[in-house]
Amino acid sequence: MTQQSVDSGTAVGSGVDAGPWWQDSVGYEIYVRSFADSDGDGIGDLAGIADKLGYLSDLGIDFIWVTPFYPSPMADWGYDVADFCGVDPAFGSLADLDRLLDQAHERSMRVVIDVVPNHTSHQHAWFRSAQADPNGPYRDYYIWRDPAPDGGPPNNWVGYFGGSAWTLDEASGQYYLHLFLPEQPDLNWRNPAVHEEFDGIIRFWLDRGVDGFRIDVAGGLVKDVDLRSNPEIGVWDPAGTRWEQWESFDHLYDVFQPESLDIFRRWRSIVDEYGAWLMGETYTLEPEGLARLVPGDGLHSGFWFEPMHIDWDVDQIRKALVPPADLLGDRLLWAASSHDMPRSPTHFGGGDQGRSRTLALNVLFSCLPGVPVFYQGEELGLVDGIVPPSAKLDPVGSEGDVAAGRDGCRTPMPWRPGGQNGFTEGTPWLSSSQRDEDETAEAQAVEAGSWYHQYRSLLAARRGIGPLTGEDVHWEDDGVGPVVRYRRGPVSVAANVSDEPVTVPVSGSVGLVFSMAGVVHVDGCVELPAHGAAIWT
Ligand code: NOJ
Repeated sequence: MTQQSVDSGTAVGSGVDAGPWWQDSVGYEIYVRSFADSDGDGIGDLAGIADKLGYLSDLGIDFIWVTPFYPSPMADWGYDVADFCGVDPAFGSLADLDRLLDQAHERSMRVVIDVVPNHTSHQHAWFRSAQADPNGPYRDYYIWRDPAPDGGPPNNWVGYFGGSAWTLDEASGQYYLHLFLPEQPDLNWRNPAVHEEFDGIIRFWLDRGVDGFRIDVAGGLVKDVDLRSNPEIGVWDPAGTRWEQWESFDHLYDVFQPESLDIFRRWRSIVDEYGAWLMGETYTLEPEGLARLVPGDGLHSGFWFEPMHIDWDVDQIRKALVPPADLLGDRLLWAASSHDMPRSPTHFGGGDQGRSRTLALNVLFSCLPGVPVFYQGEELGLVDGIVPPSAKLDPVGSEGDVAAGRDGCRTPMPWRPGGQNGFTEGTPWLSSSQRDEDETAEAQAVEAGSWYHQYRSLLAARRGIGPLTGEDVHWEDDGVGPVVRYRRGPVSVAANVSDEPVTVPVSGSVGLVFSMAGVVHVDGCVELPAHGAAIWT
């Protein structure tokens, strides 16, 4: 077991005035099941991650966020946790986790782990006790209610995955609440015992040396004390897509209750002892809503999801960047892709067009206040993998709602050409078409100008620029035209959001510190190709 951390809370090698370690850092999300399999069982694991730390270091990554590796029946592929303080044998052991922490820290890389406090697995010992003994101490760890007078669910809440958020427990005749699958019963955060449990869980991992937590469903932990029904603002169609179902209601009572903030204030006082970081899965598409969830004294940072929903449209891009950057500044986490949404190159049109657009968006993120987080394979320009319909494994999505399924963004990481793309010696847990040679990490590493090298150059350029903390963002495009452009401290950043080349006037001769393929600088202007972006000083 390790208690080593890189150093306590401040930037590596930092001076007296350095801020917290995550300031000016770059993160990388690892969907553990699909990253690298070290033992041939077809499932990515912790030792597989450790084997790839050199690759991540070369890329320029400062911290990794590892998705849940806890014991789980895998109804939601690990987001249904059966033991918050263990490692599922499919992913390795606690000793593997300790080795991963040690090896990452030796490289001055930090490790953030997922904590899933909104719900447990239905197989968690707490829920089993709660079900088996309605009068026992664990019953109130969850949210139970008698049926409505007609025998149906106690209120009109729907789950994020569609359908009622309530399931009847036949044995006791009561319903239990689950904002996700029935196999993911929601915890009752109005019970002080749940707070005590999680204080212990967080300390358990901090004492092992983890550097921070990504908090799943951070906006949803506490529910309305009276469990009031949400106002219906559309017609709820249980056969509609999960988004349509969710958006049929004004979510006044199920999520975003202000008491959730108290949980993070309490956790903050714990993690501050360790110099660790709290980053929230703060799912709201309103900057003001995000600012309420990340007010500064609880979660340090919150993910901003709007960039995963916008079209490649200059007004939408400005709207996804300017208000949050101005309102939240360095409390933001910028991400174009994740394990829950189509990969950004797919979302932005596929092929090299989608790849260029994604890189340009990442260039825009790179010098804004806040922390960019890449999703595994983003540095290779990966589009979604192709999963045959018969091989789909995500519990989300159905024939009528295929877009909701998340398998395409979760296919195994392509390390090498051929075989199982170097992900495993066995049969991958999720079957998908083999990736082309030029999509693999091995091929891109030796190809000048590959996506990998463009991303690597971007991160190197960002590092070379040095800390920008405390520098204001000046938007220089006046909100018009096809180019999104800002200046921050010594750097100017611009991206062309149109399908035509654009000439950007600059004063005199500038030095390009990063440029995408096709960018040209001549005296007095920078020429950006379609979907091109550059950084200069
Ligand atoms: C958000 C996670 O990112 C997602 O993968 C999961 O299904 C839900 N939370 C439920 O835990």
